[in-house]
Amino acid sequence: MTILGIESSCDETTAAVVVDGTKILSNVIATQIPFHEKYQGVVPEIASRKHTEWILPVVKQALEEADCTLDSIDGIAATNRPGLMGALLIGLTFGKTLAWATGKPFIAVNHMLAHLYAAHLSREIPYPYLGLLVSGGHSIICKVSGFDEIEVLGTTIDDAAGEAFDKVAKFYGFGYPGGVAIDTLAKNGDPKAARFPIPKINGLGHEYDVSYSGLKTAAINQIDQFWNEGYERTPENIAAAFQETAVTILLTRLFKAVENTGLTTIVAGGGVAANTRLRALLEKRTDLTCIFPPLKLCTDNGAMVAGIGYQYLSKEITSPWTVNTSARVEGFRKFGRR
Ligand code: KG4
Ligand code: ZN
Repeated sequence: MTILGIESSCDETTAAVVVDGTKILSNVIATQIPFHEKYQGVVPEIASRKHTEWILPVVKQALEEADCTLDSIDGIAATNRPGLMGALLIGLTFGKTLAWATGKPFIAVNHMLAHLYAAHLSREIPYPYLGLLVSGGHSIICKVSGFDEIEVLGTTIDDAAGEAFDKVAKFYGFGYPGGVAIDTLAKNGDPKAARFPIPKINGLGHEYDVSYSGLKTAAINQIDQFWNEGYERTPENIAAAFQETAVTILLTRLFKAVENTGLTTIVAGGGVAANTRLRALLEKRTDLTCIFPPLKLCTDNGAMVAGIGYQYLSKEITSPWTVNTSARVEGFRKFGRR
């Protein structure tokens, strides 16, 4: 079964052709990073306009690179939530229209399910496992019992992990996107340069919830208070110390979930899953099986959307033409706080 997957939830216009949910024939990713760089953040209006310009050539290129025509496509999948409304509307409307015009089944895809599925594109992973979904908009620790059976155990009570990387990088002028800039700088810095506090959620959230606003404030406004004597205040040291705490916040909660659920397989997904330090610290836990998607599949891509599309279509589940976009993640089976 050959699926065309379309993704336009944020700042990448991307389309892919995937066979049977695993064999990637093409995965074209047109990144808008240079257009948002001068604003040091994604500008929704610019994102929508670029998706409008690029969606057709990107889909055409995905079909060409896969060496197939629309005739050989069995179904079309597009992200419909969560994300920027204007951006989502372009991929969703394009996908629905193409499916309607060619008489193909259409499947609307939850972006977060797709991020988790990215690791499944390159290998078979038995359920259940613990999922770590960390991106610019989400920080979710979840129990995953099937491709669309996600039980959220913990989430952020304020900023998402990627958002914290982006905001700290923006403040210090480290570069854009912030996560990549901090990851790169941190390689030449000392994580012990500062001792930022690990937040105690203290009744504000649930056992596995995380919080990033305190770390963000500490790293931006109160760095003197947490800086260790004898360390030079270089971008590399700031990045390394911030990153160490950001990653530790996630891992302390995740390891608690490992202890309490007894699940020893962890699958990561989302842009922050590309973080080198997060990967290194997880891989140190030799008692756990930690699975990361290849770097190119961590950030937004059409292949992961096609993968979820295949999972639904092979169970004969399609979406109605009336399916709409949503900025939020809720509404999928078991997704959301229960
Ligand atoms: O999944 P993604 O491409 O888009 C969303 O769905 O949000 O994730 C983008 C986020 C950004 O916040 C970016 O700074 C972060 O992922 N990111 C990283 C790294 N690469 C991307 N964060 C930390 N380390 C990285 N290497
Ligand atoms: Zn994403």
